[in-house]
Amino acid sequence: MAASASTPNSLCLKNVTSHRSPDGGKGNSPWRRFVSTKKAPSLSIACTAVSPSPLVPSSTKPSQERVFNFAAGPATLPENVLLKAQSDLVNWRASGMSIMEMSHRGKEFLSVIQKAESDLRALLRVPDDYEVLFLQGGATTQFAAIPLNLCTSQDSVDYMVTGAWGDKAFKEAQKFCKPNLVWSGKANKYTTIPSFDEFEQDPDAKYLHICANETIHGVEFKNYPVPKGKDKVLVADMSSNFCSKPVDVSKFGVIYAGAQKNVGPSGVTIVIIRKDLIGNAQAITPVMLDFKIHADNKSLYNTPPCFAIYMCGLVFEDLLEQGGLESVEKKNLKKASLLYGTIDGSGGFYKCPVEKSVRSLMNVPFTLEKSDLEAEFIKEAAKEGMVQLKGHRSVGGVRASIYNAMPLAGVEKLVAFMKDFQAKHA
Ligand SMILES: Cc1ncc(COP(=O)(O)O)c(C=O)c1O
Repeated sequence: MAASASTPNSLCLKNVTSHRSPDGGKGNSPWRRFVSTKKAPSLSIACTAVSPSPLVPSSTKPSQERVFNFAAGPATLPENVLLKAQSDLVNWRASGMSIMEMSHRGKEFLSVIQKAESDLRALLRVPDDYEVLFLQGGATTQFAAIPLNLCTSQDSVDYMVTGAWGDKAFKEAQKFCKPNLVWSGKANKYTTIPSFDEFEQDPDAKYLHICANETIHGVEFKNYPVPKGKDKVLVADMSSNFCSKPVDVSKFGVIYAGAQKNVGPSGVTIVIIRKDLIGNAQAITPVMLDFKIHADNKSLYNTPPCFAIYMCGLVFEDLLEQGGLESVEKKNLKKASLLYGTIDGSGGFYKCPVEKSVRSLMNVPFTLEKSDLEAEFIKEAAKEGMVQLKGHRSVGGVRASIYNAMPLAGVEKLVAFMKDFQAKHA
């Protein structure tokens, strides 16, 4: 098939054998080198139209060698996404190089970041008056960037603390403004979320900050408080439930999320921010934390985490192919209810400390009544290919993180193991 210069994915390439080819030039090796015909017009030409290989739907069963990984993050990724990345790795869409090697300002990478953004916008139905930014530094950096961009050092802001991450965000904000702790679940070991009329907000607060899903404690907001401050700005750390269910973005001033739980590898943090909140950063704000700099430069002010953004793009594509976030949420509800049902139905052998109405769909912490059996539980599960079940070091116990990419089969295998373990040890 003749290649057309105007088709982005049908670059006309000449396939020649590299002198470094490990197969001695027979042409069967993946080390064949591709050279643009534009640069080597005198060589004989074999043109092929190259279209992106499709992202095949996830199978329900992972391949034999893969474990069920219940890690809280970095976490399991969809196997079809990993396979697609593998097939693209050395030579992305016949560009002759990998995503990791290409200029972030070239047309190839621009197409990647633009598609990632438009797919994310489609998934979350992000309104036009919001910017989507792909940043670095993890969600932890946003703990500082949020106050630096949204208020002055003298402004009051409100923090609801429902777990360890919200607490870290609150403490970091103390360096940059005057945060009020409007509610803390610490006294109850972070197992609840209050009804929203149970605490008072400061009418002068520039924003109200929440952590939408506490990864360590397994506490998740099922609806959201309305900020009472005059600017009505709700800010949410959605690191561990990002894209796990539909969210009405218009209720938020800012949503931020580290990618490494639900939507990609570590290294990229996504910020979705209402445009009118951009442009008022404190004078001391480092350039890398200033949302205006990143918005004005379409997340390309400096070298972005190109490969991580590419991986997020593949995940967004996969989520759209699964039918979008409504369909993803249904699958997540099914997995979570199977696991919580097994815990609650164990007659106290397993216990989840979190109040039922706010239990996380993503991170399921539980303890064993006989706590001396927890280490054995974790060890035996690992022997059966279910890994990373240890609870966070600050709380102990067991934690099963069942993000979007955890197949139902993984949760089914875990609950079968739990029942079996109980039968052996009851
Ligand atoms: C809810 C939440 N917020 C913030 C963070 C910190 O993210 P990072 O390590 O990307 O800075 C985490 C990490 O696990 C998290 O779960």
